[in-house]
Amino acid sequence: MREYKIAAIPGDGIGPEVIAAGLEVLAALAVRDGGFTLQVEHFPWSSDYYLQHGRYIPDGGLDRLRAFDAIFFGAVGSRSVPDHVSLWELRLAITQGFDQYANVRPARVLPGVKSPLAKGADIDWVIVRENSEGEYAGHGGRAHRGLPIETGTETAVFTRAGVERIHRFAFALARKRPRKRLTLVTKSNALRFGMVMWDEIFFEVARDYPDVGTDRELVDAVTARMVGQPQTLDVLVATNLHADILSDLAAALSGSLGIAPTANLDPERRFPSMFEPIHGSAFDIAGKGIANPIATFWTAVLMLEHLGEPAAAERLMGAIEAVTGAGVLTPDLGGVARTAQVTRAVCEQIGR
Ligand code: NAI
Ligand code: MG
Repeated sequence: MREYKIAAIPGDGIGPEVIAAGLEVLAALAVRDGGFTLQVEHFPWSSDYYLQHGRYIPDGGLDRLRAFDAIFFGAVGSRSVPDHVSLWELRLAITQGFDQYANVRPARVLPGVKSPLAKGADIDWVIVRENSEGEYAGHGGRAHRGLPIETGTETAVFTRAGVERIHRFAFALARKRPRKRLTLVTKSNALRFGMVMWDEIFFEVARDYPDVGTDRELVDAVTARMVGQPQTLDVLVATNLHADILSDLAAALSGSLGIAPTANLDPERRFPSMFEPIHGSAFDIAGKGIANPIATFWTAVLMLEHLGEPAAAERLMGAIEAVTGAGVLTPDLGGVARTAQVTRAVCEQIGR
C-alpha cells in the first residue's frame, strides 16, 4: 500500500470549505483505487490563529511541514489583517521557504462551463510562473515616512540561476504536451536589464530543446492574444508578477476563478510541494456553502500527479468533467448547486 502524508492548511474564508470538500473527494479516490492511502494532518494556521498568537506559523512550523509528501492549501486573507502581512507570513513563507520555484497553472474550459470568449473552447494553456524571486523577492523599502518626500521602492531581483531553472522547467513541460509550444512573456522593451536577461537565457536554454517551438511576446501584447487567438498559445513562461496577472485572466477566460488550480513545485523534490486553488478567501461568499470546490478538486489532480498517482489523477479529472458537463454548477458558473452537492456528485462519479 502506498502511503502519502498530506499537510492540510485550510486557512481563511472559503479555504476551509473547499479543502474539506477536496479531502472528501481524495478519500473517495483512495477507496476506489485501493492502492494508496492518504494520511492527512490539519494545521490551523490562519488569520484567526494570527490574531490569537501573533503569527501565522509557529516556531518550528516549517520544519514540521518538511516531513510531508505534499501540502494542500486553501486560501489566506482576512478583513482583519493587511493582505501583505497574511500573504508574506503564511503563503509566501511556505513557497519561498521551500524554494517552490515553479508555479504551474493550467487553464482550460471544462465541459458545461461557459467562457466569456467565443473561442473559449480553444483555451488549453499552462502558465508557468517563476515563483521564487523577481518582483516578489521582497526587496525594497520606505523612507521619509509621512513626509512630502516619502519614498517607496520595490526592486525586482532576477538571478541567472533563478531564470535558467524556470525556463528549463517550462521547456521540459512544453515538451510533454502534444503541441510542444512555449511562449516567452517579458517586457524587455521598457525594462532593459532583468527582462533582457530573461530573454537571453530563454534562447540559450532553447538550444537544449530543439523539438519545442518557441515565440515571444510582451506581457501587454500577450493579453490581447489570449483573448483574440487563444488557439495559438500552449505553454507560457513569465515572471512572478506577470504570470500572476496572466493567470487570473486565464482563469476568468476559462469561466471562473472558482475552477482554476495551481501547483507550487519544488521540481527537485528537496521539499514538499504545495497545491492550492488560485482564488483567495472570497469574503463575499464565505460561510454560505456556495464556494465552487472545482478549483480545489483540479488542484488535487495536480497533487496526485506529483505524488505519482496518475491513474487516480485521471479518474478525478474525468469525474470533475462529468459533473460540470452534467450541469452541476455553483452560482459563480451560473448554476444553483451548493459546494456539498458538487462534492457529492464528484464522489459518486468516482465510485462508478
Ligand atoms: P478572491 O479570489 O477571494 O475573490 C474574487 C472573487 O471571486 C469574489 O467575488 C469571490 O466570491 C469569487 N470567487 C473566488 N473563489 C471562488 C470560488 N471558489 N467559488 C465561487 N466564487 C469564487 O479574491 P479577492 O477578493 O481579491 O481577495 C480576498 C482575500 O483573499 C484577500 O485577503 C486576498 O489577499 C486573499 N487572496 C489570497 C490568495 C491565496 O491565498 N493564494 C489568492 C488571492 C487572494
Ligand atoms: Mg493572483
